Amino acid sequence: MERTHSLSMTTRSLVHCLLLSLAIAAAASNITTDQQSLLALKAHISYDPTNLFAKNWTSSTSVCSWIGITCGVNSHKVIVLNISGFNLQGTIPPQLGNLSSLETLDLSHNKLSGNIPSSIFNMHTLKLLDFRDNQLFGSLSSFIFNMSSMLGIDLSINRFSGELPANICKNLPNLKKLLLGRNMFHGKIPSTLSKCKQLEGLYLRFNNLSGAIPKEIGNLTKLKDIILNDNELRGEIPQEMGNLPYLVRLTLATNNLVGVVPFTIFNMSTLKKLSLLENTLWGSLPSRIDLSLPNVEFLNLGTNRFSGNIPSSITNASKLTVFQLRGNSFSGFIPNTIGNLRNLEFLNIADNYLTSSTPELSFLSSLTNCQKIRVLILAGNPLDGILPSSIGNLSISLERFQMFNCRISGKIPQVISNLSNLLLLDLGGNKLTGSIPVTFSRLLNLQGLGLAFNKLARSIPDEICHLAKLDKLILHGNKFSGAIPSCSGNLTSLRALYLGSNRFTSALPSTIWNLKDILFFDVSSNSLDGPLSLDIGNLKVVIELNLSRNNLSGDIPITIGGLKNLQKLFLANNRLEGPIPESFSGLSSLEILDLSKNKIYGVIPTSLEKLLYLKKLNLSFNKLEGEIPRGGPFANLTAKSFLGNELLCGLPDLHNSPCKLNKPKTHHKSRKMMLLLVIALPLSTAALIIVVTLTLKWKLIRCWKSRTGSSNDGINSPQAIRRFSYHELLQATDRFRKNNLLGIGSFGSVYVARLQDGMEVAVKVFHQRYERALKSFQDECEVMKRIRH
Ligand SMILES: *[C@@H]1O[C@H](CO)[C@@H](O)[C@H](O)[C@H]1NC(C)=O
Ligand SMILES: *[C@@H]1O[C@H](CO)[C@@H](O)[C@H](O)[C@H]1NC(C)=O
Ligand SMILES: *[C@@H]1O[C@H](CO)[C@@H](O)[C@H](O)[C@H]1NC(C)=O
Ligand SMILES: *[C@@H]1O[C@H](CO)[C@@H](O)[C@H](O)[C@H]1NC(C)=O
Ligand SMILES: *[C@@H]1O[C@H](CO)[C@@H](O)[C@H](O)[C@H]1NC(C)=O
Ligand SMILES: *[C@@H]1O[C@H](CO)[C@@H](O)[C@H](O)[C@H]1NC(C)=O
Ligand SMILES: *[C@@H]1O[C@H](CO)[C@@H](O)[C@H](O)[C@H]1NC(C)=O
Ligand SMILES: *[C@@H]1O[C@H](CO)[C@@H](O)[C@H](O)[C@H]1NC(C)=O
Ligand SMILES: *[C@@H]1O[C@H](CO)[C@@H](O)[C@H](O)[C@H]1NC(C)=O
Ligand SMILES: *[C@@H]1O[C@H](CO)[C@@H](O)[C@H](O)[C@H]1NC(C)=O
Ligand SMILES: *[C@@H]1O[C@H](CO)[C@@H](O)[C@H](O)[C@H]1NC(C)=O
Ligand SMILES: *[C@@H]1O[C@H](CO)[C@@H](O)[C@H](O)[C@H]1NC(C)=O
Repeated sequence: MERTHSLSMTTRSLVHCLLLSLAIAAAASNITTDQQSLLALKAHISYDPTNLFAKNWTSSTSVCSWIGITCGVNSHKVIVLNISGFNLQGTIPPQLGNLSSLETLDLSHNKLSGNIPSSIFNMHTLKLLDFRDNQLFGSLSSFIFNMSSMLGIDLSINRFSGELPANICKNLPNLKKLLLGRNMFHGKIPSTLSKCKQLEGLYLRFNNLSGAIPKEIGNLTKLKDIILNDNELRGEIPQEMGNLPYLVRLTLATNNLVGVVPFTIFNMSTLKKLSLLENTLWGSLPSRIDLSLPNVEFLNLGTNRFSGNIPSSITNASKLTVFQLRGNSFSGFIPNTIGNLRNLEFLNIADNYLTSSTPELSFLSSLTNCQKIRVLILAGNPLDGILPSSIGNLSISLERFQMFNCRISGKIPQVISNLSNLLLLDLGGNKLTGSIPVTFSRLLNLQGLGLAFNKLARSIPDEICHLAKLDKLILHGNKFSGAIPSCSGNLTSLRALYLGSNRFTSALPSTIWNLKDILFFDVSSNSLDGPLSLDIGNLKVVIELNLSRNNLSGDIPITIGGLKNLQKLFLANNRLEGPIPESFSGLSSLEILDLSKNKIYGVIPTSLEKLLYLKKLNLSFNKLEGEIPRGGPFANLTAKSFLGNELLCGLPDLHNSPCKLNKPKTHHKSRKMMLLLVIALPLSTAALIIVVTLTLKWKLIRCWKSRTGSSNDGINSPQAIRRFSYHELLQATDRFRKNNLLGIGSFGSVYVARLQDGMEVAVKVFHQRYERALKSFQDECEVMKRIRH
């Protein structure tokens, strides 16, 4: 059966083949050179998803009727070949160069690969060559361009590399546009480009061109567009460029240009677009910029070293739509007439030293005249003011309003809620007081709300939960109190929720685990209590989970182990207890795990050895016991990860571990840490200082290592012993300040101490006599010796 089938297949393809040859033979008698060239192209196409060639480019019909072909009215020769956007794969055959009357060759928006055959660059009738957006590669430097009619060459968005041919303009006397952007060209821009005297547009952006911009470009007096952004160009901007009489667009953004911008650049009446973003340029703006750049629509000087004032004359540049000065050293007042720029759509003056002439930010009121404004970014300027109520009269078109780190005080005006098209509102890092206006519920398009690091208080209004499109809610570092609203679970678009460092109380609402798409969840440093719900496992895509520094209690939910994307898990400083769930071995993306300062007990599951990406582990100050696993990431961990768990054994890299199977390891040579132990018996921490100053019996034991580290066994070596007075320790720990408290274990507290000679030591204060305390003393010393810094 199968055999018959395959036989019939063979027969069929034979017949097919025969028919094809017959067809070719029949046409061969009067086939033209044009047809031959085009059939060569057809033969070089390996993938033709729309069946353009198979169905339409058939030898039995005239090439002039083929899709993509236009023939001359009289000559019947092909003058246009345009097969743009057919998603074709394959290569360009050299025979295409034989289309002897071709004027337009448009192969753009396909997936053609390989280099361009040299014959193409010798087509004397060609006026337009468009190979944009393919996957062509190779170098052009070996080609001789010899195309007397050529007006435009577009090789953008390919994978060409190598240097630009030095003689590229030798035989392109009429070239008007040269587009080579988004390739991988390197080397210098050839100064010989000045021989393309008719050039109107030079587009070389997104390559890796280096060296200086050749000043000869200033001789190409017909240039309208010079687009050189996103290269590695160095040196100064040649002032000759400022003399180009017709220049409309000049973009030199994202290069390594340096120096003062030639005055001529800021004095081009024809210029509509000037972008110098992301260079190291300096100087100031001309005081009558309105006269020197009267037609400017797009002015981007961001991320440079410009300084001086924003000249108020800018407000006369009435065509300005995009104005960006961010990341410079501009100072002085923001012009109060800035609202005269009626066409302004985008204003970014962030990260300068700009101020307002009035505490009510009059310039902001002025901006209410800009009816087309969409983006307003003022962040990082010392504005020192309050938000005026006129802010509610800003255009409804406003989508982004960013005013973080501007020293704004006072309350958030309710009228901000008029700006119903806002997508992003960021007022973080100011001195705002009061609460979140309930009217914020009207900002129904809001995707990002940032109010972090202010002095906002009271509870978060439930109305926030109406903002169904909210993607980022960033409220950390305020004084918000009360419970986290139980309706927060309605914000199902949330990807990032930062509520840390506030005063939230009560348990986390059970609905919060409905936030199934959340990536970043941070409620750390609050006073949240209660146990963690098993539903925490619903946060299936979460990357970072920070619940540390609260009063959470109960067991660690085993469901956390199902969070496959989790990279960072912080549960430190709570009252969690119970064992580390075995399920944690399922946290296959985990990089950081901090469970320190809880009451977690039991053994460390050896299954955690599977966490291949784990880089930081902190289990210190718990009640863990038993042997520490050694495999996987544990091999690289230091004893610091396990500090303050007196019942643990088999500490990493420890030569006198109490675990039976533990073999002595090679000694660490680079110990810089000096360790000492204070035992105060039997005392409460609070009473300690007083009691000890009364010189009650207390004992100083040191496990001290000489700073040179020459001795291999500092603990037992007599000359290593150094005694410390209690006063020395008081000073060194800044009177046992909380700041210096590393943690409290079940046997005592450990402090960082800085001795007068600059050496850092760890000091352990035992609260009570405990058999194990002394027994584990030597281990403790070893543990601490391994703490770097
Ligand atoms: C070939 O020539 C014949 C007569 O000269 C003409 O009828 C026919 O259309 C031509 N075929 C093609 C494909 O040009
Ligand atoms: C090829 O397409 C053109 C334009 O759609 C059409 O006029 C012509 O008849 C087609 N030829 C064949 C062989 O399908
Ligand atoms: C080629 O065809 C596409 C699609 O029909 C068209 O957009 C493009 O302008 C044409 N190219 C030329 C150079 O006319
Ligand atoms: C077409 O061009 C190729 C390579 O460029 C050449 O080898 C061939 O002889 C030419 N064919 C005709 C018919 O001119
Ligand atoms: C350019 O083309 C002309 C005309 O075909 C020819 O005479 C000349 O030799 C070519 N130049 C180069 C450098 O190939
Ligand atoms: C760009 O060129 C520089 C040297 O000029 C080189 O170090 C760098 O790797 C190149 N980058 C790319 C993406 O080719
Ligand atoms: C470029 O222009 C300068 C004058 O601005 C002139 O001295 C120089 O000869 C010109 N160079 C070319 C190659 O035309
Ligand atoms: C600016 O250009 C105008 C001509 O467009 C010229 O008269 C004026 O002197 C130039 N200003 C400076 C400072 O170069
Ligand atoms: C705006 O232009 C007018 C006319 O040139 C001038 O009188 C006025 O001073 C300019 N305004 C500013 C702020 O420079
Ligand atoms: C806002 O605009 C309204 C209507 O134009 C006006 O009555 C009100 O005074 C303006 N408010 C402020 C603070 O400018
Ligand atoms: C939250 O969603 C629930 C169920 O869809 C709804 O009943 C409740 O009113 C919503 N709460 C708020 C504050 O939007
Ligand atoms: C331990 O660190 C070394 C060197 O930094 C690294 O090559 C190795 O992959 C690490 N091993 C584990 C299990 O992380």
